[in-house]
Amino acid sequence: MPAQLRELERDIIPLRAVDSVGLAALRGLLAPHSTEISNVKVEASRFDHRKLSELVAELAKGERGLIMVMGKGGVGKTTVAAAIALGLVQSGKSVHLSTTDPAAHLAVTLNGEVPGLSVGRIDPKVETRKYVDKIVAAKSPGMTQAEKDLLIEDLRSPCTEEVAVFHAFSHVVSQAGSSFVVLDTAPTGHSLLLMDATGAYHRQMLREFEGKASGRIVTPLMRLQDAAYTKIILVALPEATPVSQAVALQDDLRRARIEPFAWVVNKSLLATTTRDPLLLARLESERKQIERVKAQASGEVFMVPWTASPPVGVAAIKALLDA
Ligand SMILES: Nc1ncnc2c1ncn2[C@@H]1O[C@H](COP(=O)(O)OP(=O)(O)OP(=O)(O)O)[C@@H](O)[C@H]1O
Ligand SMILES: [Mg+2]
Repeated sequence: MPAQLRELERDIIPLRAVDSVGLAALRGLLAPHSTEISNVKVEASRFDHRKLSELVAELAKGERGLIMVMGKGGVGKTTVAAAIALGLVQSGKSVHLSTTDPAAHLAVTLNGEVPGLSVGRIDPKVETRKYVDKIVAAKSPGMTQAEKDLLIEDLRSPCTEEVAVFHAFSHVVSQAGSSFVVLDTAPTGHSLLLMDATGAYHRQMLREFEGKASGRIVTPLMRLQDAAYTKIILVALPEATPVSQAVALQDDLRRARIEPFAWVVNKSLLATTTRDPLLLARLESERKQIERVKAQASGEVFMVPWTASPPVGVAAIKALLDA
């Protein structure tokens, strides 16, 4: 915590045994929480869950394709994307891990660490500069200085960044035609904007080539909709609101006629062997959320346990696969 924030007065709200949804739970936030825990009966029967390595084995049946990891902010997209990429490399595939997350240090630190794995990042600023340079180089020969200035001013519009990022995204999508590409997306709002651009481009292309070559056009959106080409992995946390948010994201994707391939429930306590009384008390809430996920998810559900410390570095991330 930054020094300035540390100096402020603060309240600390402990993790509770139940999700704070509903009136009783909200009232409970004001009461001492020790009572919730003392009622817990430790359950011997553990949860039988499918591991991330099983998802990787499923994906590794192919030789190429786009694996797009999506989900709300902070659910573990970058972590899960890195684990899937490492898992595929382990099964002998060569993999490109690409991230659009501006804060994906985790993924970036893997670059050059593992033979068979390359890591790239779509940085909007860098992509915009490259795109503007390309357009200017292509169009400026033969232009007067005034015309060139006008072109450059035109390219300063915010649309340019959107187009440039879409270009980079389309390139990554097409790369998946010859090898595995794992794409770690930024928090949802941004990704859906990208999807929107993808849809707009698709419609534009169909209009432009109407009749003529329309049977031969393959747009990035068509590749995302093609279940043989693209596998969407939806990451969610096993708590009430995050599950609702992930279901809403799945609905958004379905409206674009994109069907998720599988769900990954991250930071699961059921997938751990915890003996901590508070965490054990939370298992009941989690079980309910897993039931909701299983009822709503398209595709199979895989689980990643909550680890005692954040999974950073090749060894820790690989360990998530079989945890
Ligand atoms: N299974 C896990 N156990 C413990 N900590 C985890 C686990 N998965 C992720 N984390 C930690 O949770 C935090 C968020 O994870 P991550 O950065 O992968 O999420 P994200 O969805 O990519 O976030 P953003 O939306 O900001 O891109 C990180 O500190 C990460 O180390
Ligand atoms: Mg991320």
